[in-house]
Amino acid sequence: VEGVEVVSALMALAEKYCVDKLHSHSYIPVYEELFDGMDIRRVLEIGVGFEDLMRPFVPRYIHGASLKMWEEFWPEAQVFACDIRPDTLVNEGRIQSFVCDQSDPSALLDLVEKCGFRAFDVVIDDGSHQTEHQWKSLATLLSEVRKGGLYIIEDVSEPDKLLAMTIAARQWLEYKSVEVMRFDKRADDALLVVRR
Ligand SMILES: C[S@@+](CC[C@H](N)C(=O)[O-])C[C@H]1O[C@@H](n2cnc3c(N)ncnc32)[C@H](O)[C@@H]1O
Repeated sequence: VEGVEVVSALMALAEKYCVDKLHSHSYIPVYEELFDGMDIRRVLEIGVGFEDLMRPFVPRYIHGASLKMWEEFWPEAQVFACDIRPDTLVNEGRIQSFVCDQSDPSALLDLVEKCGFRAFDVVIDDGSHQTEHQWKSLATLLSEVRKGGLYIIEDVSEPDKLLAMTIAARQWLEYKSVEVMRFDKRADDALLVVRR
């Protein structure tokens, strides 16, 4: 209808919780499409966030913003998260979070155990944003995503390098497809999307 703005459910929640995936990056409309039709019950996000870090970019930032968005968007889902900083953890409702350094594969495997050892439908890496850490986490956690599920790395600053590493690992890293999606809000406004 002319003059009526159609706001999607995820967009409305991203606004409600002041999520930087919307304000500093371009990911929310893409997520609407990627998650459409998927049955999502178990999600893991690397990186919880905290006020001192997020407020310069998102003045109304709410602690644990993206986790609260996912909890409301997927009413049947358990939302797991981890962060290197113990003071960021959020444990309420269907959100459970743990301390974990994503650059340490054995810590990541401990995390999988704490999440109950069952495959994730979606993993989102919004942690340190360092290419080496992004790669170690992908190499360790991709096999913990169910077939048809998604592993998404946000704020990829070296997309070509990460893409080449993922393709080169094809023999032992099992996935259906991998692609880089680039946007223009910031230099690191890019995603690596791996479909398992
Ligand atoms: C951009 S914030 C996450 C924002 C949150 N996902 C959101 O969308 O609201 C990044 C977080 O990653 C955490 N982090 C940094 N290095 C990490 C590492 N090596 N392992 C796990 N988390 C890390 C930081 O402490 C910070 O809380």
